[in-house]
Amino acid sequence: MTIYLNEVAYSKKIDDKTFSVGSMIIKEKKGHNHGAPTGDVITVMEKVSDKGTANDWIFKISSLSDKKDLTDEFNKTMPMTCTKCHSQYANDFVSDTFNKIRYKQ
Ligand code: HEC
Repeated sequence: MTIYLNEVAYSKKIDDKTFSVGSMIIKEKKGHNHGAPTGDVITVMEKVSDKGTANDWIFKISSLSDKKDLTDEFNKTMPMTCTKCHSQYANDFVSDTFNKIRYKQ
């Protein structure tokens, strides 16, 4: 798995409770990814507001091979939408795995 952060997301300190608006987190994972309907995909989270709900983030998923946007398909066919599943994470709706990787806890 590879995680890419833009500068805004990277500047978040471990003690900061939330990410700043403008943060982008991109995850590339080969093979089975988030149960996505097709092969290798990237997932993107972009923070667009700071109201304290998971809707502060736009979630997108696309296939790596043809860059097709699979977000609607994912949210219609999977048991849980991106937003719903990520809304359980206390760290500004970003998973606990993220902290382990970013801050090497
Ligand atoms: C059923 C729960 C679940 C759903 C649905 C889900 N995610 Fe995640 N997401 C996770 C978990 C758990 C991780 C960290 C571990 C991993 O990547 O395997 C993660 C990691 C991520 C990351 C890396 C940052 C982070 O939070 O660690 C991004 C970006 C991401 N997901 C975007 C999406 C997008 C876009 C969708 C919808 C297409 C989506 N997720 C759907 C559970 C979910």
